[in-house]
Amino acid sequence: MPELEVKDLRVDFRTQAGVLQAVRGICFSLQPGRTLALVGESGSGKSVTGRAIMGLLQANANTAGQVLFDGQDLLRLSEAEFCPIRGKKIAMVFQDPMSSLNPIVRVGRQITEVIPLPRKQARQKALQLLGEVGIRDPERCFRQYPFELSGGMRQRIVIAIALASDPQILICDEPTTALDVTIQSQILALLNRLKTQRKLSVLFITNDFGVVANMADAIAVMYAGKIVEYGTAEEIFYDPRHPYTWALLSAMPDLHTSGRLYAIGGTPPNMVHPPVGDAFAQRNPQALQIDFQQEPPPFFLSDTHWAATWLLHPNAPKAEMPEILCRRLEKGGHYGS
Ligand SMILES: Nc1ncnc2c1ncn2[C@@H]1O[C@H](COP(=O)(O)OP(=O)(O)OP(=O)(O)O)[C@@H](O)[C@H]1O
Ligand SMILES: [Mg+2]
Repeated sequence: MPELEVKDLRVDFRTQAGVLQAVRGICFSLQPGRTLALVGESGSGKSVTGRAIMGLLQANANTAGQVLFDGQDLLRLSEAEFCPIRGKKIAMVFQDPMSSLNPIVRVGRQITEVIPLPRKQARQKALQLLGEVGIRDPERCFRQYPFELSGGMRQRIVIAIALASDPQILICDEPTTALDVTIQSQILALLNRLKTQRKLSVLFITNDFGVVANMADAIAVMYAGKIVEYGTAEEIFYDPRHPYTWALLSAMPDLHTSGRLYAIGGTPPNMVHPPVGDAFAQRNPQALQIDFQQEPPPFFLSDTHWAATWLLHPNAPKAEMPEILCRRLEKGGHYGS
């Protein structure tokens, strides 16, 4: 049974320019002990999705659809009803650890604060959590201030705080974007280990396909507020079908590509006036006429893999995967490290 189910989620924001449609009807579910990655360019609606699940949307937001967790629809909960869930059963880790930590309060206190146990036991549990997230000297770290620590250490502490109440679900929004590459891979390895050990369901939000290769069990590719392709990591990396997924994968550096990287032409659409049809058509050199007129339905390639593109219609002309991607896949597709 899925831990969390998102059904036809829609999020609009009232803005001065009009109603901005940030998320336009997405469905997915999180399975225990599995990571689903939400991947897409800036502005595709990834963070808004994460915040909608956490009940953390700004006051100008309007939601529709359902977010089912533990027999409840989280979109319908009052603030008081959300309290025992947010940060407790569903926890979130953000990009910038400093935004979730108080720089001038000792690490130990920031962790024990969220542990509802008597002082001594809370301290014990905090030290154990610091060890669990790979801090070598938990006693010392317990007494330090976040400003004394490196970015990687801080992110480990944020993860420790997120785990303090033994959540079932962890939402990670670009948790390593602010870190350098070596530290980034250490944090990713930590998240992978925690996911397995604690049977966590992880929603992993990123605009970097490179990060996803070693993390995700399933991948949802998002564009302009919709999921345009969904599949297992294997299906998305080795048999991608949506031209937007092709573009994202082509733009991803790997060890074997020399020369200039592919850059996706054009810019994402203005979501106050989202395009009719396939939102990516305007930037897709292979777009068909129908792409500009009618929204493509999901075409299923397996039980777990679908893509919403007219190119998969039986009558569509054959589309060509970008050359750089063909070459990479021919070589066995070396993704990640
Ligand atoms: N409070 C708000 N009011 C108005 N528009 C908003 C608000 N929050 C987000 N948006 C808009 O919603 C859209 C989706 O934003 P979101 O933050 O989910 O993007 P994202 O996919 O997380 O991008 P990034 O990779 O840059 O983090 C964007 O167009 C953004 O400007
Ligand atoms: Mg974001």
